Amino acid sequence: MCCSAAAVLLLLAVLSAGIQAAPLPHHVSSLIPILQSLEADDIPNIPSLVRALGGCKTPVCHAVLGDPPPIPTPIPELWMLLAHLLNPNTTTAAHGMVLAPDGSTVALAPLFAGVEVGLKRAEGWPGPIDQPYSDLDALYAVTITEALGTSFLMAQLNGTAALGPDGCWDDVDNPQNFTLLGPPSLIPDAVANGAMDGVLLGTRLAEDPVPLSILFRSYYGVDNGITSGSPHSSRRRRDFGSLMAVGKLEEEVAVMLRVLRGLPPTRELMEELGEEEEADIARRAAQEFMEVYVGCPAIIPRCMWGARPYRGTPRPLSPPLGSIYIHHTFVPSAPCRSFSTCARDMRSMQLFHQDTRGWDDIGYSFVVGSDGYLYQGRGWHWVGAHTRGHNTKGYGVGYVGNFSASLPDPEAIALVRDALIPCAVRAGWLHQNYTLHGHRQMVNTSCPGDALFQEIQSWHGFKGCGRARSIRAGRTDNIIGAEAEVRV
Ligand SMILES: *[C@@H]1O[C@H](CO)[C@@H](O)[C@H](O)[C@H]1NC(C)=O
Ligand SMILES: *[C@@H]1O[C@H](CO)[C@@H](O)[C@H](O)[C@H]1NC(C)=O
Ligand SMILES: *[C@@H]1O[C@H](CO)[C@@H](O)[C@H](O)[C@H]1NC(C)=O
Ligand SMILES: *[C@@H]1O[C@H](CO)[C@@H](O)[C@H](O)[C@H]1NC(C)=O
Ligand SMILES: *[C@@H]1O[C@H](CO)[C@@H](O)[C@H](O)[C@H]1NC(C)=O
Ligand SMILES: *[C@@H]1O[C@H](CO)[C@@H](O)[C@H](O)[C@H]1NC(C)=O
Repeated sequence: MCCSAAAVLLLLAVLSAGIQAAPLPHHVSSLIPILQSLEADDIPNIPSLVRALGGCKTPVCHAVLGDPPPIPTPIPELWMLLAHLLNPNTTTAAHGMVLAPDGSTVALAPLFAGVEVGLKRAEGWPGPIDQPYSDLDALYAVTITEALGTSFLMAQLNGTAALGPDGCWDDVDNPQNFTLLGPPSLIPDAVANGAMDGVLLGTRLAEDPVPLSILFRSYYGVDNGITSGSPHSSRRRRDFGSLMAVGKLEEEVAVMLRVLRGLPPTRELMEELGEEEEADIARRAAQEFMEVYVGCPAIIPRCMWGARPYRGTPRPLSPPLGSIYIHHTFVPSAPCRSFSTCARDMRSMQLFHQDTRGWDDIGYSFVVGSDGYLYQGRGWHWVGAHTRGHNTKGYGVGYVGNFSASLPDPEAIALVRDALIPCAVRAGWLHQNYTLHGHRQMVNTSCPGDALFQEIQSWHGFKGCGRARSIRAGRTDNIIGAEAEVRV
């Protein structure tokens, strides 16, 4: 386990002895013991300390939350550890981000800003009283709407992206360097995650203020055993979606844009902007954010699970495709319930498919964990090796596990049926009139297992005809014939 409390305390001891220490991993589990020590020191307002050290520097966030406290000199060592997480001594995109145990990356500034609003509200804070800030909902302003308003304004003017991309850490066991997977926007996925977490945890703290070390430990699942279920952080998209409707987000962004009209640097940018254009930006910002981060599921990118490169030259698909094929992996036979076990299963399947089967890459387009996440196999763009004879016609989605006699968890079922597939249709990867099949309908195999095959017959788009096979008693799984059933 990365970065235990003992390791951080050791680092602290090393620092106070003036010895050159290894840099602190950019991991949530580095943060918890720092919070715990600050709480033990009775530091009254940890989120405002985070602001003093570099969080929440944007004009509205500053105006809503007020001036941060002064930093004493010399800077206490604990604060320096926190400062290191907020302002790493690197030139990379790791700026103020930490890796969570569920494999997602979280920006600390919007997270702590939301937490600060929650704690203030718990003490009866009515929100900012000065115009124009009093029109804002403080929680949404400091986490997401200032970022959304600014990002969509910039994107409109510069013709750049307003959201994303995701990124990857150099080493998930000792995360130091973070690299974005594409051109940066003002809201890379880590900022969106931090904003959603800030809203969720701020809401929670307003009702029930608890020490942050305890709240973060349980929310992010730090020190959880592998078997104790996926942490709340893996459900942030769903939970944010139940809290925030797209219409409400649009209203909040619209109010924010009126505030941004009066402030530099956005004042200059908005001089030429008409009321209709402004309303249009609010509408698009809310719709696109909700579509990308709530309507669609998170997909763990290849570089996060430690994929080897594709061998040879991938063949492109021509989306939208007409089909989706459901598989189970059979081996690994146990559903994976944490980022570390799912990532390990991905690597072992890729190894088997490349080295034993002689394929170019892991066969599936996407793999479904029972940790709340999808994992990128060949993805939306490249032909897979999952359903012999049909690989150019559809995407192959494989559940990690043996679902002959039991079903995936309801959440893992919903992840594909209610999130991935509708998202793929809206995004134009799948035809509106797509058909859904079990692997066994196309190839002589028992995949995706009797139980899962029974289940998918009630899914939208399921097509009963084709080469549907009856399930014969005593039939063995045809591992060699089934393209993407895997022996590790
Ligand atoms: C940053 O790293 C350089 C080289 O490792 C070192 O000389 C410098 O003191 C570091 N700065 C901070 C603020 O830690
Ligand atoms: C977009 O343009 C603004 C000024 O018009 C500039 O400050 C900003 O850096 C630009 N952003 C990107 C991502 O190019
Ligand atoms: C992070 O990346 C930079 C630039 O690629 C490199 O110089 C540095 O050594 C890396 N740091 C670590 C801890 O890997
Ligand atoms: C898969 O599950 C079935 C039914 O429980 C069982 O008979 C079979 O041995 C399992 N196979 C593997 C590889 O786990
Ligand atoms: C599905 O939709 C596509 C494009 O709209 C169309 O070309 C295709 O014929 C349709 N297929 C069926 C089976 O209706
Ligand atoms: C399907 O596989 C089973 C078991 O491996 C085999 O006995 C059967 O002959 C195969 N059927 C066809 C049509 O290939």
